[in-house]
Amino acid sequence: MNITLLGTGFIGRFYAESLHAQRRKDRIQMIYARSAESATRFAADFQIPHTSTDMEEAISHPSTDAVVIALPNHLHLPAVLACAKAGKHVLCTKPLGRSGAEAKQMLEAVEKAGVMGGYLEDLCYTPKFLKSLSSIQGGSIGRVLWAKSRETHPGPHSSWFWDKEQAGGGALMDLGCHCIEIARSFIGKDILPVEVMCWADTQVHPIEAEDHAIGLVKYANGAIGQFEVSWAFRGGMDLRDEVMGTEGTIWLNSFLRTGFEMFSTGKGGYVAEKAESNSGWLFPVGDEVHDLGYSNMFSDMFDAIEGNKQPLETFYDGYIVNAIIDAAYASSRSGVWEKVQIEGWRGQTDVQPTSHLTSYDDDNFLIKEEILPGGEKKIILKDKKTGRISQRTE
Ligand SMILES: NC(=O)c1ccc[n+]([C@@H]2O[C@H](COP(=O)([O-])OP(=O)(O)OC[C@H]3O[C@@H](n4cnc5c(N)ncnc54)[C@H](O)[C@@H]3O)[C@@H](O)[C@H]2O)c1
Repeated sequence: MNITLLGTGFIGRFYAESLHAQRRKDRIQMIYARSAESATRFAADFQIPHTSTDMEEAISHPSTDAVVIALPNHLHLPAVLACAKAGKHVLCTKPLGRSGAEAKQMLEAVEKAGVMGGYLEDLCYTPKFLKSLSSIQGGSIGRVLWAKSRETHPGPHSSWFWDKEQAGGGALMDLGCHCIEIARSFIGKDILPVEVMCWADTQVHPIEAEDHAIGLVKYANGAIGQFEVSWAFRGGMDLRDEVMGTEGTIWLNSFLRTGFEMFSTGKGGYVAEKAESNSGWLFPVGDEVHDLGYSNMFSDMFDAIEGNKQPLETFYDGYIVNAIIDAAYASSRSGVWEKVQIEGWRGQTDVQPTSHLTSYDDDNFLIKEEILPGGEKKIILKDKKTGRISQRTE
């Protein structure tokens, strides 16, 4: 693949490292930045042959197969529209839009132009996430009841993130998009997210947007998604997920304390994303671009383009995430559950909350069984006709 990369900031650098790693055949051929100086420096760092300070020129470069958008949130929409107009496949970083309405425009533009719209949600491509997802889909933990995802850190690295207008929100927009899509994937992407209850507030920083939010997303099958996000957390970047099913549980820790611990008196430099210190006991990450999902993500995106199929994460997924975030903001203002407004739902339509009744015998439902310290097994039952609860010991 020949790639045009838009943006030379934090995520642009991660993307370039991932795209040019380990003898990959995909190469960035064109880099766009606002200043020629940034473009030239980035081109030298990653051996990129062409540079431009004109976004449309960069997008329509004749050798470009796909455009990767690594620009601030308010520029995703104009950049995607320019790619659609130029007939180029487009991969856009998260969040897709600053609202469901913006994301919908992007989805419609790529579909009308007949180009692929890949949603660069890297945390749905980490090795741990992909392994968990396939084991859940294989039935390892039964029916998913609750999927919780947390991303908290001390706050972003550029001014535009802190500006509500340019970013479209605060920690909920920036980090909630990851957590919502992680939980949604574990619950099942074809299950309708119905309504959201969210608390969001500005606890620490002097900004208009929220720097902390917690929310619940109710799904049509009765499962519950939970997100916990903060820009006020101290101690690095905390990425953790927890999935509870009828037959088991999965706990994931993707960044802090993953088995790599190091002590330093502080003589080194960069440790890991959002690490607050380079002294004391530290938690580095072995291969950040792989452990954060970027490598698997780009492989899936380019395989999809070449195979004329959809990647795991599409613009449609980005739109659903934005619609859930819209409902979360509405709930944080109203203080009540708010319905998720989705136009053109593509998943299952006849899903009801799944029955929780397990038959034990002709007369009883099973509530639970437990082996007690004395070795005997207690069975707790509910009579199917009378509803009376009883117990037996074996
Ligand atoms: N895990 C992830 O997937 C992840 C992580 C970080 C950021 N992001 C996303 O990547 C995007 C960029 O974030 P970042 O962290 O790289 O930000 P950044 O501030 O580090 O870099 C932004 C880039 O855009 C350029 N830019 C800023 N304003 C511009 C304008 N008006 N016109 C043209 N170029 C402009 C900057 O010069 C810089 O090159 C955001 O949408 C963010 O949410 C994703």
